[in-house]
Amino acid sequence: MNQQLSSRVRSMQESATIGMSRMARELKEKGAPIINLSLGEPDFDTPENIIEGASKGMKEGYTHYPPIPGYLDLRQAICKKLKEENWVDFSPDQIVVSTGAKQTLANIMLCILDQGDKVVILAPYWVSYKDVAQMAGGEPIIVSGDLRAQYKVKPEDLENAMSSDVKAVIFSSPSNPTGSLYTKEELGEFAGILSNYPDTLIISDEIYEYIVYEGEHQSISQFPEVFDQTVIVNGMSKGFAMTGWRIGYMAGPTWLAKACTKMQGQLTSAACSIAQRASLAGLEGGREEVERMREEFKARRELVYEGLSRIPGLDTYLPKGAFYMLPGIGSLIGKSTPDGSTLNDATDFCMYLLKDANVSTVTGLAFGAPDTFRISFAASAKDLTEAIKRIETAVLALK
Ligand SMILES: Cc1ncc(COP(=O)(O)O)c(C=O)c1O
Repeated sequence: MNQQLSSRVRSMQESATIGMSRMARELKEKGAPIINLSLGEPDFDTPENIIEGASKGMKEGYTHYPPIPGYLDLRQAICKKLKEENWVDFSPDQIVVSTGAKQTLANIMLCILDQGDKVVILAPYWVSYKDVAQMAGGEPIIVSGDLRAQYKVKPEDLENAMSSDVKAVIFSSPSNPTGSLYTKEELGEFAGILSNYPDTLIISDEIYEYIVYEGEHQSISQFPEVFDQTVIVNGMSKGFAMTGWRIGYMAGPTWLAKACTKMQGQLTSAACSIAQRASLAGLEGGREEVERMREEFKARRELVYEGLSRIPGLDTYLPKGAFYMLPGIGSLIGKSTPDGSTLNDATDFCMYLLKDANVSTVTGLAFGAPDTFRISFAASAKDLTEAIKRIETAVLALK
């Protein structure tokens, strides 16, 4: 049989971060001493109390199909967390637990978008926003922030992109891929603008909320004028070092939670019962481990900033949160590598680093930010130090 693939999947891109990691893994398997800085994954293991929560859950018989939106006690714990840490009131029927924040986002997009619907995406954006929106039929409108403003989008640029037929606006703060963080004042300005478009859903991805180095994580949902039109997307992967457990959740309007439950009921039935019990233990436990990991990421952030800032041609800044930096490389585009090939864009630069320096990073083109590359500092200090040395040697060898 010929491959009868749908136009949907044929037009879909492989996730650039996953693609780069795959290439790095393949080279490593062939013996290359690759340092992988392309992954958005804490290198810590899941804290012990969470493992115990999973084990207790299994022994207590949490091995059957869970309720589609998630166990009630987990949804209650999420509401408590949102109240205490984000100062917003939700009831359990406004929460849907899914197989990672990625599925949460896919559920939302599939529930709100019809063919050709406009979705405003603040850039640089997380790779999947654009692809998942398009998969659901949406038409992305990209609004970019400038490196000199730590990539934060100016309120007037957001305002210019808005119209009454925009179905959704999506952004992350702290941001993947930039590590930038919107302040309360900045989010207040966004809220002021978006409240003029009450039928536009604000999708606020807060998955890096615990990984903040300066200032404080703030949620746009705290502004009463936009509360009813905002959905928070969050999950256990980053803050609790639980990437493999695949638990994410949404907190938003009841109509949307109902729709996402219906969608999820057809797609996955529910998120894994055992991972849900583990997540409950994580949310109900203290935040000491979360804080310990944050401190460790902070030290690595300084290491990466100092190391990369010394390299001529890299435009660096100190990220305020998450574990990424997106240095500018505009002045390196057009240069030649030692084997005589020209760096035509950021993808060429990343491939050069991968092949010549054995360091895997991700092209900024994947995030809607040409002339940049993303480096993840969720790696050991030893690997980061070595990677910086190799990047420096590679950049200095360009002509
Ligand atoms: C901004 C952002 N949102 C959502 C996700 C998805 O997280 P998960 O599906 O692991 O919960 C990621 C993961 O890299 C991310 O960086």
